[in-house]
Amino acid sequence: MKLTVAQKIIKNHLVTGELIKGTEIGLRIDQTLTQDSTGTMAYLQFEAMDVDRVKTKRSVAYIDHNMLQAGPENADDHLYIQTVAKKHGIYFSKPGNGICHQVHLERFGVPGQTLVGSDSHTPTGGGIGMLAIGAGGLDVAVAMAGGEYYITMPSIVKVELKGKLKPGVSAKDIILEVLRRCTVKGGVNKIFEYCGEGIKYLTVPDRATITNMGAELGATTSIFPSDEVTHEFLKAQGREEDFTEIKADEDAVYDEEIIINLDELEALVACPHSPDNVVPVSEVKGRKVNQIAIGSCTNSSYMDMMKVAEILDGKTVSEHVSLVISPGSKQVLNMLAENGALAKLVSAGARILECGCGPCIGMGQAPSTDAVSLRTFNRNFKGRSGTVSADVYLVSPEVAAVSAITGYIEDPSEHITSFDIAMPQKFLINDNLVVNPDEPNNDIEVVRGPNIKPFPKGDSLGDKVNGKVLIKVEDNITTDHIMPSNAKLLPFRSNIPYLSDYCLAPCDPEFPKRAKELGGGIIVGGSNYGQGSSREHAALVPLYLGIKAVIAKSFARIHRQNLINNGIIPLVFENENDYDDIDVLDELVIENATDQIKTDKVVVKNINKNKEYNLVLDITDRQRNMLEAGGLLNMIKLSAK
Ligand code: F3S
Repeated sequence: MKLTVAQKIIKNHLVTGELIKGTEIGLRIDQTLTQDSTGTMAYLQFEAMDVDRVKTKRSVAYIDHNMLQAGPENADDHLYIQTVAKKHGIYFSKPGNGICHQVHLERFGVPGQTLVGSDSHTPTGGGIGMLAIGAGGLDVAVAMAGGEYYITMPSIVKVELKGKLKPGVSAKDIILEVLRRCTVKGGVNKIFEYCGEGIKYLTVPDRATITNMGAELGATTSIFPSDEVTHEFLKAQGREEDFTEIKADEDAVYDEEIIINLDELEALVACPHSPDNVVPVSEVKGRKVNQIAIGSCTNSSYMDMMKVAEILDGKTVSEHVSLVISPGSKQVLNMLAENGALAKLVSAGARILECGCGPCIGMGQAPSTDAVSLRTFNRNFKGRSGTVSADVYLVSPEVAAVSAITGYIEDPSEHITSFDIAMPQKFLINDNLVVNPDEPNNDIEVVRGPNIKPFPKGDSLGDKVNGKVLIKVEDNITTDHIMPSNAKLLPFRSNIPYLSDYCLAPCDPEFPKRAKELGGGIIVGGSNYGQGSSREHAALVPLYLGIKAVIAKSFARIHRQNLINNGIIPLVFENENDYDDIDVLDELVIENATDQIKTDKVVVKNINKNKEYNLVLDITDRQRNMLEAGGLLNMIKLSAK
């Protein structure tokens, strides 16, 4: 059988299942990554498994999200992660070393290997030819303990890039074009595999920009072949020995095909408030801008920053624009400092932030009320910036930089003819912000500050699942809605009881109180419920509030798995019109729940309306067992008995 790049890696890592689309497969995982926002829970869950040392080839714990230290909470989390990492054989990337995906690409990623990360943008690693998938913290904990990672064998979409990008158009525009065509729901259970003559002009960080934002398609992951470009990148990172060539077979069969003519592509922009709300920059040109933020795991590489420095060289940022720049890693910042590009940025009036997620996760730099903010990031959901009334546009570094000078949205093709920047032959390598794991040492004390609270655990499924509908929400509810993430709440990521007062509050501020007063119940959602980040808190906090089931028109992949992992039943309306029939506070009952969840069809009674609805539970037997046990951890414990 002729195979694609993704199929080859899957085949090499297959533990259970076969390469048959739509069936469940279990993969051996070579590498894991966590970041601090999801990491504390992942490590608490790992500790609960009683495994001394990680079984993976490389596991890395990054600190990049909660960098502000306005109180002890974030620092306590960092210390917990550092000590738990040391004890269990995990590399620890200290605060300041950079954004997890950027650093992983530079220093840890290996073509042909599998990577599971507790961050939805883990597919960034696809830029270097890894099969890199975002998952919930518990799935990452299981992978660290040597367990398989399960997915539905995805269909493979061939994205053929023809020709070469014009000046002022870049990798960001390629992924925005894919988002424009496929939408935020278009990638579910798919892998986007890039090929064609156009890829040879894309550097590894360019490719990573594209695979990074493939997460916004809802895709399982995205991937590029590992070729001469990959080889050059690894060589320049002093890691030539990590290179292996991986290319698709000549006659590999794909399930779908997309062709993008790069010569015809223009600079694009994702307008508020969704990454697929994409139009040519020329359509919004001239709109006044108040803030510009350059960075994030999408666009913070050395080459991105160099382009920005060249555009800003000798210019001054508009008086009504606040320009903030976060280089993606210490390596990037160090190189900019050594070659003088940092001075160009500072002298133009940019505010340099530390190497981390910063404004992307709402940790500082919230725009002013009603502001227009241009960001090189990957998400522009309403309120994610920290300012609900702000309009966030997602753009390339080129659009961001040219617009920073005039203060109005500009089309870079009118300003840029070419760049005089070469990919470095050798990156500046200094890993002194990475703490290597020690030899096994049980004497290492794991430090748990008062912010590290136990996580909730599910109960095995009773014979009857019932409760009132506590909230009914619209389509495209994100994990940011379910468990908001902002500078005030992020420090409490290890404190589920505290966070529970904010669950789904952007949709209905009374929801947490209602859930607590009624002792839990059921959530009703629209389509694509739980899109966005991999944040497991969007399942853990509802579990703490007593949520037993979520009934929706459809679910985002990672969130659905997180619900199952935590013993919450994700049910889909067979007839979407039934959504309209249900009201908040209706009492719903699933009789004989243990038997019903063993099949694809579940019937729920609405006591108030005296009606029954047919629901679909299209999950695997393994997932059914997980729901019956009350979550993945319970299931692992049961099978260990
Ligand atoms: Fe960080 Fe934003 Fe990426 S929060 S990991 S820079 S999506």
